[in-house]
Amino acid sequence: MTVSAPDIPFFPPTLFEADRPELIGLVREVGLDPEQRFILGRRTTAFEDLLREDLGAADVVACSSGTSALCLVLRAMGIGPGDEVIVPAFGCAPLAAAVAGTGATPVFADIRPDTMTMDPDATERLITERTRAVMPAHMFSVMADMPRFAELTGRHGLHLVEDSAVAQGGVLRGVPAGLWGEAGVYSFVQVKTCGMPGEGGVVVTRDPALGEKVRMLRNHGQQAGQRFVHHAIGLNSRFDEIQAAFQMHRYSGFPARLARRAEIAAYYTERFTPLADRGVVPPPAGQDGRCFYVYAVLARDRQALSAHLAEWGIATHVYYPRPLPAHSAFAPYAPPGARWPRAEQAAHCHLALPVHHLLTDAQVEQVADRVCGFAAGRP
Ligand SMILES: Cc1ncc(COP(=O)(O)O)c(C=O)c1O
Repeated sequence: MTVSAPDIPFFPPTLFEADRPELIGLVREVGLDPEQRFILGRRTTAFEDLLREDLGAADVVACSSGTSALCLVLRAMGIGPGDEVIVPAFGCAPLAAAVAGTGATPVFADIRPDTMTMDPDATERLITERTRAVMPAHMFSVMADMPRFAELTGRHGLHLVEDSAVAQGGVLRGVPAGLWGEAGVYSFVQVKTCGMPGEGGVVVTRDPALGEKVRMLRNHGQQAGQRFVHHAIGLNSRFDEIQAAFQMHRYSGFPARLARRAEIAAYYTERFTPLADRGVVPPPAGQDGRCFYVYAVLARDRQALSAHLAEWGIATHVYYPRPLPAHSAFAPYAPPGARWPRAEQAAHCHLALPVHHLLTDAQVEQVADRVCGFAAGRP
């Protein structure tokens, strides 16, 4: 059986097509550069500087992925065996894996039903004398309640790590995603708002000392310019020079790409808000604290909505079909009998619709019409 490609794909196949000549040129330029430096060279430094200045951060450290960025931050904070870090029960595997990888225990907090982000009240109830850090994550198109988390961690004397892997470009109350916590991260894997054709990420921080530690840890505990002297056990989490040059080239177009995603999301939300009574609930309306990486509705009958859209050639995506503690990998960290009802509900009901910047107005309208058409036929 041959499966035909959807008319409206979830991931655009031509994501980097417009940049192809530039990318090929950069492969050649870096490849033939007499310096012959393919990682952590002047292009990586320039990209870090660009982000640091743009964000107003104390430091930005480029590394090999968003996952690696989380691991580096936790290690730089000295988190390890015997410690607990509170993470959302609904989200991506690196949230729990990064914590477990340090030897610490991920403790799962339930989420808020409307935003699908970690619930500050549920988080506070889980704080023990072993808790060292709280690590909320921004989810799909909505930033976590960072003012509450900042207040809560300040009051309890805990580290605040912001998993802003999906939220580059998001701003909440004037503070960019990533800078609410002591450290945040961005992922550059292709589908992210500032994605690239390869693996990469950054740590962003307000704390220069933390940035310095992360910088050392990303390259086997060595300080810049001092090779084969290891001050700490680190990782190989270095950044690629071709990708750094490519990100520099593409960065000026980032605000426009983000604005297009925001425009599409606002249109969807306007069209879908009246559907709540018919079993399709959009994310909360608004622009503040939004990131537009993924646009996910909560659908009472997700399977039927997804099948309906597929019939019309519209691809959709289910990101997290079960809460993190329900995976065998993380079950050892789930206290016996514990439940996360809102995370279970979100895992059961969320459905992501295409929201990338290459969608045409006609495609966006088509998606909205088909979702509304589905809901109209529901009780
Ligand atoms: C919330 C969140 N955190 C961390 C990551 C890890 O980023 P990466 O895929 O670059 O390792 C992702 C990636 O999808 C993510 O969605």
